[in-house]
Amino acid sequence: MLVTSKKMILTAQKGGYAVGAFNIENMEMAMAAIQAANDLHSPIILQTTPGTLKYADLSVYLANVKALAEQVEIPVAMHLDHGSSFELAMQALRTGYTSIMIDGSHEPFDQNAEVSRRVADACRPNNVPVEAELGKVGGKEDDLDGGSGNPYTVPSEAKEFVERTQVDYLAIAIGTSHGIYKGEPKLDFDRLAEIRQVVDIPLVLHGTSGVPDEQVRKAIAGGICKVNYATDLRIAYTKGVRETLKDETVIDPKKYGTLGMKEVYDLVSEKIKVCGSDGKA
Ligand code: 13P
Repeated sequence: MLVTSKKMILTAQKGGYAVGAFNIENMEMAMAAIQAANDLHSPIILQTTPGTLKYADLSVYLANVKALAEQVEIPVAMHLDHGSSFELAMQALRTGYTSIMIDGSHEPFDQNAEVSRRVADACRPNNVPVEAELGKVGGKEDDLDGGSGNPYTVPSEAKEFVERTQVDYLAIAIGTSHGIYKGEPKLDFDRLAEIRQVVDIPLVLHGTSGVPDEQVRKAIAGGICKVNYATDLRIAYTKGVRETLKDETVIDPKKYGTLGMKEVYDLVSEKIKVCGSDGKA
């Protein structure tokens, strides 16, 4: 069932668990992720970045996910990840995405707050929830480079940002980074606790691939309600495909897609359990 992300995330917040948000690049990844969530009776969010939307557009990804969601009873939300402009956010809204992120985190505070508020104002009458980001999650996400400097979310700014923008969820920077980690990431749990004290909307963790599961569980206990995984799914899918293509006689995309899907299925199943959302749908 295709639904917005609102109820599933608010229910997760009350229940002390999180909903996994998984970046998909193709139909196979969507099929495998939804199958895993369905088998575990878990809500799930699938998401696409602007970079992914250059590969196939909003309507193509939504049509795939909608068709798959209609075949299952669990709640499935389709989310725009790292929406890079007001215009793209509105396009996603019009296309029928059921959850939208506007990412103005690369802009100064005032501009970020302004664009986030405009998107939230436009989505509210449509009952589509909006995620915004404050602070800079490092690493390279999509076409954007997180850059250097002090990237962490400042708790007092988070409070002001949420009051000004009235967004539904806030993505925060507490030490995670998009892409592959060089060393072991260390999350700033004190900062998370300080943010949690002054912000009561659900908080979102980006850059979760490569973060040890124990740290993810601790972050969820500290108030994270949506957990984003992208790189891990790419690695999983490609591992299955690569393994199959070692046999050079293979020419059927269904053949390597099948093993790619199995790897994604296993990974998403594992991460749903880390989020604690299994059995919640
Ligand atoms: P990773 O690629 O590090 O899992 O980051 C995912 C993410 O935050 C998508 O927004």
